[in-house]
Amino acid sequence: MSTPSRIPFPPSRLVRRVGCPFSDRRLQAEYDRRGRAVKAALLDLLPGGWTWAGKRVLDFGCGSGRVLRHFVAEADGGGAEVWGCDVHEPSVRWVEANLCPPLRVVRNAPDPPLPMADGAFDLVWAVAVFTHLTDSWSAWLLELHRVLAADGLLIATFVGEGASADTLGAPWEEDRVGMNVLCCGRDWDSGGPLALHSSWWIGDHWGRAFDVVALQPAGFGGSGQGVALLRRKEVSLAPADLERWSPGEPRELEALRYNRVQLERELTGLRATRSWRLTAPLRRLNSRRSR
Ligand SMILES: C[S@@+](CC[C@H](N)C(=O)[O-])C[C@H]1O[C@@H](n2cnc3c(N)ncnc32)[C@H](O)[C@@H]1O
Repeated sequence: MSTPSRIPFPPSRLVRRVGCPFSDRRLQAEYDRRGRAVKAALLDLLPGGWTWAGKRVLDFGCGSGRVLRHFVAEADGGGAEVWGCDVHEPSVRWVEANLCPPLRVVRNAPDPPLPMADGAFDLVWAVAVFTHLTDSWSAWLLELHRVLAADGLLIATFVGEGASADTLGAPWEEDRVGMNVLCCGRDWDSGGPLALHSSWWIGDHWGRAFDVVALQPAGFGGSGQGVALLRRKEVSLAPADLERWSPGEPRELEALRYNRVQLERELTGLRATRSWRLTAPLRRLNSRRSR
């Protein structure tokens, strides 16, 4: 199998879809550089003495394989079984045609389950995926818990205090964010919805299914994202158990209030755009029809 530098690059539309906002000239170099930086950051988080031989690992939400393509050596002769999965059919088809074997990939549905047995994986990583999952986050976190072996590790990135003030429209306020959601309904080709997480909220909610081994609020792989290294706990939980507020945690209510402010700010900005004004007659027509 070819070395990573000889693997072809996915078409630009698949590269841009995983958040590579560069000109055509820099696109492939940045895709490669960022993928390598993420791999290095993942390796940094693994416990001392980690070896790949005999391990089965999953890149959840692998897209077009920006990170996965750098794990060919671990799968090809390195003794590991390296899987990816994603909901996006064109990305999964590209990975299948260009990286498999030695890698393996499946397309999953927007909601669980994954087509894998309980306890199938020693390690799962989800890079820039829980940053976009809104309604389905708790079901997916528990699904990854299901497919992890006892003591298996999950590495998940999140958008926390490293989020830019430009994206937020205001500076980060840790005690006013729990899991706050912006850009609701934005399509994936434009970046998808955005979920913001504060570290205290991750420790509380994700911590019910996983021991939090390490939590870095920003700077993962040179990006603004934070990262959580989690070890599977031996618990049996339903999504509602992860979502429930902790009694006596005042920041939950403040985060909900603040999310309303953030959404109002977003809507006001949206209403000021040219495309919103241009489509106003269509919205008026629709509302007349639905009366
Ligand atoms: C920002 S991209 C990141 C892709 C990849 N992890 C990387 O770092 O290049 C987010 C990916 O999550 C995928 N995704 C969204 N919802 C998903 C779901 N329910 N299951 C699997 N993948 C999902 C999207 O299709 C997209 O490829």
